Amino acid sequence: MTDTPGSNNDHWYDPPEDLARNAHIPDYEAVYAQAQRDPEAFWAERARELEWFQPWEKVLDDSQAPFYRWFIGGKTNIAHNALDRHIGTWRANKVALIWEGEPGDVRSFSYWRMWQEVNRFANILRSMGVRKGDTVTIYMGRVPELVFAMLACAKIGAVHSVVYGGFSEQALADRIEDSKSRVLVTCDGAWLRGKIVPLKDTVDEAVRRSPIVEHIIVVRRTGQDVYMESGRDYWYHDLRALPIAATRAETEVMDSEDPLFILYTSGTTGKPKGVLHTHGGYQVYVSTTLKWVFDLKDEDRWWCAADPGWITGHSYIVYAPLILGATSFMYEGAPTHPYPNRWWKLIEYYGITILYTAPTAIRGLMRFGDAWPSRHDLSSLRLLGSVGEPINPEAWRWYYEVIGRSRCPIMDTWWQTETGGFMITPLPSVRLKPGSATRPFPGIEVDIVDEAGNPVPPGVDGMLVIKKPWPAMLRTVYGDPQRYIDQYWSAYRKQGWYLAGDSARRDKDGYIWIIGRIDDVIKVSGYRLGTAEIESGLVSHPAVAEAAVIGVPDEIKGNAIYAYCLLAKGYTVTPTLEQELKEHVRHEVGPIAVPARIEFLESLPKTRSGKIMRRVLKARAMGLPEGDVSTMEE
Ligand code: WTA
Repeated sequence: MTDTPGSNNDHWYDPPEDLARNAHIPDYEAVYAQAQRDPEAFWAERARELEWFQPWEKVLDDSQAPFYRWFIGGKTNIAHNALDRHIGTWRANKVALIWEGEPGDVRSFSYWRMWQEVNRFANILRSMGVRKGDTVTIYMGRVPELVFAMLACAKIGAVHSVVYGGFSEQALADRIEDSKSRVLVTCDGAWLRGKIVPLKDTVDEAVRRSPIVEHIIVVRRTGQDVYMESGRDYWYHDLRALPIAATRAETEVMDSEDPLFILYTSGTTGKPKGVLHTHGGYQVYVSTTLKWVFDLKDEDRWWCAADPGWITGHSYIVYAPLILGATSFMYEGAPTHPYPNRWWKLIEYYGITILYTAPTAIRGLMRFGDAWPSRHDLSSLRLLGSVGEPINPEAWRWYYEVIGRSRCPIMDTWWQTETGGFMITPLPSVRLKPGSATRPFPGIEVDIVDEAGNPVPPGVDGMLVIKKPWPAMLRTVYGDPQRYIDQYWSAYRKQGWYLAGDSARRDKDGYIWIIGRIDDVIKVSGYRLGTAEIESGLVSHPAVAEAAVIGVPDEIKGNAIYAYCLLAKGYTVTPTLEQELKEHVRHEVGPIAVPARIEFLESLPKTRSGKIMRRVLKARAMGLPEGDVSTMEE
């Protein structure tokens, strides 16, 4: 990266006038001010755009803060708003999802068809004994059935826990165990870069380690032979052909605060955290943010290129677009397969109007030069989006000029698994600065403060905090409410602020520039990984006694993983050991967690109390001064 966020903050990019004027929200300032005056009235007004089986009695209950509750007494179901309510309207015949597989196969689903598929899936899950409140683990490639499975869970009141297909055995086993899932949905495999990712093999091993799973539903995608255990494993297409898989299914009436899903994410300690979201507030927040930030209209073709297995996919591939009755596009595979123009070809072919992706993907495609996108007609695009890590101004300008042809504003959305939806982001009418997520969404109050909670002056780094509750905030860490308090609410307990875990600064115009994580979370290609999970993957190999992992800036991935290992007694460094350890991490944690580099050390820098000083390792790796090492042990 040649320039850092905030270094060039005087160049403004104005949105095209007609786009700003015709946007759902043409005046950010006015709406922000209105929301600030009475946030509860503001959110109630948003909630009234959705259907409720029974209206709420109270918008926000903060009597047990930080366990906030929203739309108290309301009865609803997000699947009702995403699908049921469109049936019987003209939207039933509108295309909900167009999907293209990596090999080039295409499927598309109207709202009517998707509703039927979800109903079938819901009936199948019910026939396996899944009831309201039960958890179901979903571990699949990027196929339409993944969307159906999630919605089917919501429909019957089950709680889905989607595990990203880039995780492997131990990571999956831990998540199954923590969520106590008896039923698991998977695929035989997934297509990626022309090869098969053997998902079912990984499932078999994970379930051997976490044997609480009783039933596995397997969607056929790649078609190779897979092991099927009789009485435990069922092909989805076989189940779908049974009379139980009827095309109508009752939608469970849910309380606003009933759990919708758990999504595991990395935090400061080893065990991944199950971030819990609920039906009521989440549906209001994700649909409002998508509608306003990406100005979603009926004539749009929305492409969120994330994976449904991460929060971006949950909120903005699955739930929000369907609630808004939009047409979404979804692509299964790699952006560079078979050539680096695959995405540009898809945009041209399907007439995509809005593309939402991560800086790492942009940088990765930028590397192949302008010729690939330039030979495609990308004139259907009207808005672009970025998420997952700070976008460096160089990538921003390439995205803006070469992909958006200097016509499409870039919505740089800052948010987190925990926040459920966009928090700091422009709206289409807001003037932009490359690399800044600009300002908070209406109804959201943020600040940048020092350790004591005093706001830091413009240009100075501080901690990003969120000062007021919002409808899609996480409700707890699944099964560990104390961790919820400790992690997010203890740093500024007195003030009652949420600690985001990111550092940021404000410029003289009040624009916010996100700098990066302040904890042991590493963003690699936009994926959120915990150092602890990678470290325990390394240590589970007999040759490794201790390990420390850091993130080091990387041109394409944002950060690259560097690992430092201390060998166990009796082991010596061999020429193949580094490779063997990388394979081991791939197998245990997943391909996304494999270190770019492993070094073997005689000792790790530690504080006198025994904590590994990753900061020192990072300084050494980057050739920077080690800083204050007064607490380092001799
Ligand atoms: C980072 C992804 C800068 C940030 C939606 C945050 C960003 C973490 C941006 C959450 C952005 C996300 N600019 N940084 N636009 N968006 N981040 O939970 O460090 O996978 O805390 O959610 O990603 O990652 P998560």
